[in-house]
Amino acid sequence: MSNYSIKSLEEYFQVYRKSVRDPETFWEEIAEEHFDWRRKWDNVLQWDFSKPQVKWFDGAQLNITENCLDRHLQIRGHKTAILFEPNDPQAEAEHITYRDLHERVCRMCNVLKENGVSRGDRVCIYLPMIPELAITVLACARIGAIHSVVFAGFSSNALATRINDCDCKIVITSDGSYRGAKILDLKSIVDSALEECPQVSHVLVAKRTGQKVQMKAGRDKWLEPLMEQAYADFPAEIMNAEDPLFILYTSGSTGKPKGMVHSCGGYMVYTAYTFKNIFQYREEDIFWCTADIGWITGHSYIVYGPLANGATTVMFEGIPTYPDSGRFWEIIQKHKITQFYTAPTAIRALAKESLDFVTKYDLTSLKVLGSVGEPINEEAWHWYNNNIGKGQSPVVDTWWQTETGGIMISPIPYVTPTTPTFATFPFIGIQPALMDDAGNEIYENQTQGKLCIKFPWPSMARSIWGDHERYKNTYFTAFDNCYFTGDGAFRDEVGYYRITGRVDDVIIVSGHNLGTAPIEDAINEHPAVAESAIVGYPHDVKGNALYGFITLKEFGETRDRDNLMKEINQKIAEQIGPIAKLEKILFVDGLPKTRSGKIMRRILRKIASNDTENLGDISTLLNPEVVQNIIDATS
Ligand code: WT7
Repeated sequence: MSNYSIKSLEEYFQVYRKSVRDPETFWEEIAEEHFDWRRKWDNVLQWDFSKPQVKWFDGAQLNITENCLDRHLQIRGHKTAILFEPNDPQAEAEHITYRDLHERVCRMCNVLKENGVSRGDRVCIYLPMIPELAITVLACARIGAIHSVVFAGFSSNALATRINDCDCKIVITSDGSYRGAKILDLKSIVDSALEECPQVSHVLVAKRTGQKVQMKAGRDKWLEPLMEQAYADFPAEIMNAEDPLFILYTSGSTGKPKGMVHSCGGYMVYTAYTFKNIFQYREEDIFWCTADIGWITGHSYIVYGPLANGATTVMFEGIPTYPDSGRFWEIIQKHKITQFYTAPTAIRALAKESLDFVTKYDLTSLKVLGSVGEPINEEAWHWYNNNIGKGQSPVVDTWWQTETGGIMISPIPYVTPTTPTFATFPFIGIQPALMDDAGNEIYENQTQGKLCIKFPWPSMARSIWGDHERYKNTYFTAFDNCYFTGDGAFRDEVGYYRITGRVDDVIIVSGHNLGTAPIEDAINEHPAVAESAIVGYPHDVKGNALYGFITLKEFGETRDRDNLMKEINQKIAEQIGPIAKLEKILFVDGLPKTRSGKIMRRILRKIASNDTENLGDISTLLNPEVVQNIIDATS
């Protein structure tokens, strides 16, 4: 019998040892006993990080939606699979049973097929958090088409880049979307994106807000009538375990966004197994992850992980502050949520509000509180633990990445003793390592280093779409025979990990991964701008905020600076999305550079965080004099 559900610390140690000593036997048992396969694998694992190539369960055949839907129909067909909570608190929540979901996914498969989608095609999904989003994702998986979900807060430019990068021919969207008191015009964002994407021949539009939209004849169709007419059954395509399941874009420190490619078999096994243990999931639970399905957290822990376990998973359309800052807590009471999984930035924002928003509601249904996306600071951890969990629900600080597919370092609630700011132990099967600057592994505890993973795990990304070389260079060349995460970490005397943050030019703002290069590119498009450098600095709600140091073509430029700042942020919103807007902008007469012309972001980071005492040696700069000018300009 495999160790599908870990119940004690002793058992964790024992299972962990087994998973590391003999990973193949370990994962084979999990895969065999808890999932439906049409055919078993030829090999559990083949890997070579120097290529890099990783294959889990190769030769096995399956369809992930048979595991997420069909196999539950007999035993829990009438159980709620997706519990949809709309933006409007007065509107009724929708309970979509496993039977309903199966039927709607099958209809969607037929609609997609009739609109030209077949196995291997890439499908762009640009939808708000409404049931159609999960349904389209699952329908793609059932057909064997590769979904590429783009978060519906991204701008038309960002959307176009992502559509073109993986050459999607079809986009699924909605007329508009509700975000608190606001309505966003999704369809018109798609329309302007598609001016750059001539290959897109079909656009399917879900009706959500009922607002007026332009429908381009021959290209655009309303989704609902097609769904009504579609046949309610669809045989799942038989996929190889290593076939791509989806592409999801994440920012890099340089260049265009990276389309991380995840595959069917290993991803299913690992997301399901982590979901079961890290949330101590039981049949009667109501699980709520507040992420958007446009991010990996939503893919793995709203859709695939929960559904593979036959769970009830909540999809929330709205925002935490609408109609007021009690919305999360109201929903927890209303649906008797048992596991709640959110981001530190949301916790910090809500912790600033009156506690009355919390104490009004009965939160006793909660058993586990999760945190993800960025380091959770001690104060936020305690607020969450004391006021939401009342000290009764363990806080699981889960560290992972778009690239890892599933949670990598995390406590197991009721098993691993928690300590604020520590993600604690590696999950089963995960072999982390800390590296020193010379590239050697540090074996001692009580030490800090660059965080790598030494051995493959089933849900790791297999490539970057269209650019395997970049995949290799980004993750597998910094350290020999290791996956490099881009994060730094501290390991304490018992072996607990605390993630200290990015060690590259990626900045995590409100839990969103933002690369500096694309933001700088957007700023540099402004005609008045000569050069720019973006750094992060600590922000009490967002974790980090963006600080832009900008030189103008004519420093004496007489134009109104406030206006210029607005225009620059407007450019960023157009190119990337509002999440990438700068919190602070400083116009300077020069940026500190090395003699080879590289901008010294290290120095700007210190200035941005008011830490000008410790600038380090600046005498080797090309232009040391600009540093004092910048410092003077900040005051
Ligand atoms: C980066 C990955 C997969 C979750 C959503 C973000 C940071 C994530 C934690 C945590 C400290 C964290 C890391 C990581 N991060 N979780 N619990 N503690 N840092 O996915 O957008 O791919 O970002 O988020 O820096 O590398 P992502």
